[in-house]
Amino acid sequence: MAKPVPDLENKVRVRPPTAWEAARLPERVYDACIRTDGALSTPAKSVTTQSSLRDIVQIIDDRVLTFDPQERDPSRAFVERGFLPPGTKRYKDRRFIFDRVFNGEAAQQDVYQGTAKPLLKNLLDGYNATIFAYGATGCGKTHTISGTDADPGVIYLAMADLFREIEDRKEDYDIDVVVTFLEIYNEEIRDLLAEPGTPTPRGGLQIREDKSVKVVGLVEHRPRTADEVKQIVLLGNSRRTQSPTHANETSSRSHAVLQVHVTQAPHTASLSETRTMATLSIIDLAGSERAAATTNMGQRMVEGANINKSLLALGNCINALCESGGATRHIPYRNSKLTRLLKFSLGGNCKTVMIVCVAPTSAHFDDTHNTLIYAERATRIKTKVVTRNVLNVNRHVGQYVEAINRLNIQVEELKEQLAGKRDAEAEKERRRKRDAAVEVERAKNDLLEKFEHVQAPIVDGATCSGKLDVAEAKLKVIRRRTRSPACSGRS
Ligand SMILES: Nc1ncnc2c1ncn2[C@@H]1O[C@H](COP(=O)(O)OP(=O)(O)OP(=O)(O)O)[C@@H](O)[C@H]1O
Ligand SMILES: [Mg+2]
Repeated sequence: MAKPVPDLENKVRVRPPTAWEAARLPERVYDACIRTDGALSTPAKSVTTQSSLRDIVQIIDDRVLTFDPQERDPSRAFVERGFLPPGTKRYKDRRFIFDRVFNGEAAQQDVYQGTAKPLLKNLLDGYNATIFAYGATGCGKTHTISGTDADPGVIYLAMADLFREIEDRKEDYDIDVVVTFLEIYNEEIRDLLAEPGTPTPRGGLQIREDKSVKVVGLVEHRPRTADEVKQIVLLGNSRRTQSPTHANETSSRSHAVLQVHVTQAPHTASLSETRTMATLSIIDLAGSERAAATTNMGQRMVEGANINKSLLALGNCINALCESGGATRHIPYRNSKLTRLLKFSLGGNCKTVMIVCVAPTSAHFDDTHNTLIYAERATRIKTKVVTRNVLNVNRHVGQYVEAINRLNIQVEELKEQLAGKRDAEAEKERRRKRDAAVEVERAKNDLLEKFEHVQAPIVDGATCSGKLDVAEAKLKVIRRRTRSPACSGRS
């Protein structure tokens, strides 16, 4: 079953300026302002300060940015670019449109919501997904993908959502999550989860390709929570090759690939079972670097050359995919380990999001320009039809018995839950009756007490009333006698 999804999506994240860059940027002042007397005047502080850097990315809206925007102040333009012959373009002033643009203030959660989250929805239904961060060195790829313990990136946020979704489905499905983590360093694949000292084959681990791409011999972990994945990633990152370079204190010298394989099987005992399988790949690429800009020497230079070689191979694959326009054409995946691993993410059965990281200042002018051009080209890849990975498993008798046993266990668990629920309800009813009896007893006692209080006055009242009646009767007789004629004649 094919699902219509957009082709490879390109989302750009512009990182905030570093402290070093911020100190060299011009102060943000307006060219002109209205003073309190109503006159239009220039502010006291001139914009043409001694700043040596400038902003080269202007974000227009959440999909459009301008690279190297035209400077509106001619004096500043002259200071920045000097004299240029008439007709020469001082600024590139080039507009780029992407699927999404995040500015320097975007939080990790914003970037996650706008990139990886939409892919996760389909992962449990059997759609493969890949997220990879691309960009020059020091532009925020590792920050976006892994982040820090206090401000975690896409991996942790995605895993937290994935395990939440698994928890919601656990009544109806058995879901198996397997995690692997590797790096490609100098064109060799290394397992980041293997214990240090574990022997590895010469030339690194090997890739096996059939309907999917697999690396042979990787250590597999079965985490149960997002925090366990975070620990796995922290452990892997601590073993990853990282070195300070001129451009980045914590420069990644390898491409890191985290893969999460999810298999979902429904709780049924029918003769055939429909399983869905999908792989989420999260890739933190090493940054492209210009040897002249990084002043790397020795080992760092060899690493840089290998990084550039694999990124060039990736660029060539992207170009070939764009040009093929859907036709079957040779795509040079085999030119590097990175492109072999990404084969299905780029041109196969996989929904892919590329997070393009760029720096905002002129210190990275060429890198940012090249990265944006590269990313724009990748938006033209339109060859994919993403399908669901579904496997119908016909059960053998043994598996059938196993499924029945599993269901029996589940029935027992449900019975226990039900019995527990009934006990709880009976207990509740007993407590309600006990409370009602106590209440009736208390009301009875109250009435008795009140009766005792009023009994004496009632008896007194009754006695008085009797005496009053007798007195009134006697009075009547006396009155009658006094009014009789015998009595009046005598008088
Ligand atoms: N959005 C951001 N907010 C705050 N700090 C950031 C951001 N992006 C990057 N940084 C900081 O910039 C520095 C370089 O970032 P990072 O290591 O992620 O770059 P990178 O693209 O992975 O570089 P490399 O290719 O050399 O590995 C780090 O100190 C990181 O904390
Ligand atoms: Mg990095």
